[in-house]
Amino acid sequence: MSFKKLHKPFPSFLFCFFVFLHPIHRAKAANFIYSSCSPSKFQPGTPSQTNLISLLTSVAAAASQATYNSFATGNDSASPPGAAVYGLYQCRNDLRADDCSACVQSAVGQLNLVCPDSYAASLQLDGCLVRYSNENFLGRADTSLVYRKCSSSTSNEEQFFRRRDDVLADLQTGVGFRVSSSGTVQGYAQCIGDLNSADCTSCLAQAVGQLKNSCGSAMAADVYLAQCYARYWASGHYFRSTTAYPGDEIGKTVAIIVGILAGVALFVVFLSFLRKAC
Ligand SMILES: *[C@@H]1O[C@H](CO)[C@@H](O)[C@H](O)[C@H]1NC(C)=O
Repeated sequence: MSFKKLHKPFPSFLFCFFVFLHPIHRAKAANFIYSSCSPSKFQPGTPSQTNLISLLTSVAAAASQATYNSFATGNDSASPPGAAVYGLYQCRNDLRADDCSACVQSAVGQLNLVCPDSYAASLQLDGCLVRYSNENFLGRADTSLVYRKCSSSTSNEEQFFRRRDDVLADLQTGVGFRVSSSGTVQGYAQCIGDLNSADCTSCLAQAVGQLKNSCGSAMAADVYLAQCYARYWASGHYFRSTTAYPGDEIGKTVAIIVGILAGVALFVVFLSFLRKAC
């Protein structure tokens, strides 16, 4: 008979407590923004799948080392033709290394859930982007619109427009990552790590143009192009952006599904953890 089990060690109780607190700290970087999956899918068990698993493993492992990196798997002559996979991740440059790593790992996990076996996919969380494709998109200029969201709350105050325009003008001068604010309006912008400063500037100019032309007088708005994004919001409107272009409904549904799956997964992990440790 064992008596050890009767006495629960105090440190493991403490650990239970911190496990509860931990995800709250990370919540914001993990906010879901959008995902997109190619409708074409590969057959499980093919070289494409092996290469994708290998690529995503590299992506998840690298994010504690740098805010950006790109990868290619199976594009050498030793691999069967057509099975190559190219991919990258980009963290918001103000994230700490461990937050970047947690964000990218979460994005990779969600990609596997929402885009199973897709030849190409991307998923953007608040703090990071993960994207891969069977076509080599690395280093190729691409300013196509991926996602846009304008808040339903609007303003027609001249002061708001002036401040917003100040913020947007400042964001356009950024190379890599830039945060800006003017009075109650704040914003930030980010380019993919392999863009040179000229390409970054022209990408941001297009993102800012979209913000002004499509979101008009919205008090908060996000525009994500393939290689850069820009966001702004007036104080208090950061989480209220709701009206958007058609892709958005899909985004919302995916966000809900991902949220539910993540919740269930977390609960199962937590239950098994409780059984072991508490
Ligand atoms: C594979 O693709 C990467 C990224 O485009 C490139 O740097 C590398 O040279 C390629 N490898 C081969 C063997 O073609």
